[in-house]
Amino acid sequence: MAETPTDVANPDRRNFIVLSTMAMAGIGAASAGVALVRTMTPTRDVAGGGVIEVSLDGIAEGSGIVATVGRKKYSVRRRTAAEIEAAVAGDSEKLRHQETDAERVQRPEWLVLRLQCPHLGCPPQGTAAGEKRGDFGGFFCPCHNSQFDTSGRIRKGPSPSNLPVPKYFFASDEMIVIGKEA
Ligand code: FES
Repeated sequence: MAETPTDVANPDRRNFIVLSTMAMAGIGAASAGVALVRTMTPTRDVAGGGVIEVSLDGIAEGSGIVATVGRKKYSVRRRTAAEIEAAVAGDSEKLRHQETDAERVQRPEWLVLRLQCPHLGCPPQGTAAGEKRGDFGGFFCPCHNSQFDTSGRIRKGPSPSNLPVPKYFFASDEMIVIGKEA
């Protein structure tokens, strides 16, 4: 910042301007840091070929993250107790694509899905808290209004089948690997 004659003559004012500028820069860096963490730490392409590590660290109950690998999107959602309960209750419903919740998850708390609607391939919403999740609290495909439950099973709309579950495994309690089995 260029100093004005007034600043030179008044060092207190000059210091105030410099400190204010530094404070603003700090706020900007902090904001950028948060964005960086959210976008850069969750996933790592392990060996190319679409196999990725996804960190589960910091994913709050009721929310999730979308991991993108090339053109593929995956949803990793940490379910609440109520969401797990709703998914298990859905087992006894007459479903278009009959699968139990236990067949679709390895650990009840974590729902891992390929985000590709089986109707025409749009990526459904519902992974992050606050996204539209449809009538069944799971996922919502805005293209033609398919609605999925908290297990990712089709419950309403044109999708002929459930959201696909990809190959994955838990490398630890804090890390899953998507794209292959253990
Ligand atoms: S692509 Fe999802 S409802 Fe049509």
